[in-house]
Amino acid sequence: MSAPTSSGTGTEVVPATEPAGLDVSDPRLTQFEIVREGARRNSIEIVHYEARFAPGSRAERRMERIVAGLFLLAGAAGLGFTVAYIWWPWDYEPGADAASRLYTPILGTTLAIALFAIGAGVITWAKKLLPHEVAIETRHDEPSSDSDRRIAAATLGSSFSGTGVTRRPLLKGAIALGLAPLGVITVAPLIGGLLKHPHTNRAGIDGFTTSPQDHTGWNPAFNNGDPVRLVFESGTPIRPADVSVGGQVTVFPGIPHGTSNQFADSPTLLIHLRQEHADQLRQNLYSDNQGFLAGNFVAYSKICTHAGCPPSLFEQQTNLLLCPCHQSQFLITDNARPVFGPAARALPMLPLALDSEGFFVAASDYRVPVGPSYWER
Ligand code: FES
Repeated sequence: MSAPTSSGTGTEVVPATEPAGLDVSDPRLTQFEIVREGARRNSIEIVHYEARFAPGSRAERRMERIVAGLFLLAGAAGLGFTVAYIWWPWDYEPGADAASRLYTPILGTTLAIALFAIGAGVITWAKKLLPHEVAIETRHDEPSSDSDRRIAAATLGSSFSGTGVTRRPLLKGAIALGLAPLGVITVAPLIGGLLKHPHTNRAGIDGFTTSPQDHTGWNPAFNNGDPVRLVFESGTPIRPADVSVGGQVTVFPGIPHGTSNQFADSPTLLIHLRQEHADQLRQNLYSDNQGFLAGNFVAYSKICTHAGCPPSLFEQQTNLLLCPCHQSQFLITDNARPVFGPAARALPMLPLALDSEGFFVAASDYRVPVGPSYWER
């Protein structure tokens, strides 16, 4: 048997031909010899195996530091993502030059840096620190024997020791520090979604209750007990003449911050039905929705009951409201019940009325939870 030779530079020069039938259970064999025998039995000849650097050399340590730096950069960026996700102000105020405008760019930038750095670290490690090997393989299909499996285990073990993790504690630590924040990035949005109660920012408002059926911006509690007006995004109140027959507009509660994220569950679609469609809807009205129409006007929540997207693609001819996210369709002449797609619940209907000046108001808050509801049920 001709064992591989080791030089001071860590280079192994391997003869191309070896004697057949090495006993791989021979305890005197080195791990590399077993690997090479396994390769040979699989018609693979390892013709060149060479370490990139002499072990412990300055060049090797320099490359280690570069790879470690990339992992640490990934960790720092991942940490930045998590910190920004939790503490950066994210509330959006229309027209305000607020720090919240940077929320999404900061998340995107830190995530991009983290992923780039971890990728660059792995590639640099593979290209610059792993031994350079040239092997020639002939492919064939055969069942594995016991000794082949033993060889496979040795090959995996050899690959692991080839990474040098066991003798490079700096890299081991950098990987741990770099990957841990990346793991946090993966779970942060999931856990954050569970922790952030969407309505806690309204605590302290007189008359506010935490009942899931009594909490949107249409609650009179937000308007000193008076019914809340329907307004355009500009804050202008709406009269029936503002919406043409067959038309629809998005409306918001006419209260302070009613168009902001503080009341993100309140956007509503006000639809002016044609006479025949309004008659159809009146015939189909659920008992819970009786009296909710104002003339031929009906208002439905604009938060999809599937996953919260805005179903605002209104097809007049079919009276279907389409949600662009997963194509749920709601039939507005039948209480906006879902007739297609993953949504399983009708869009809640807002009770409408006209105030003494002829503007639309919400006669009360929504009577059933709006949106997907999974965080409150
Ligand atoms: Fe509307 Fe999924 S969010 S169909």
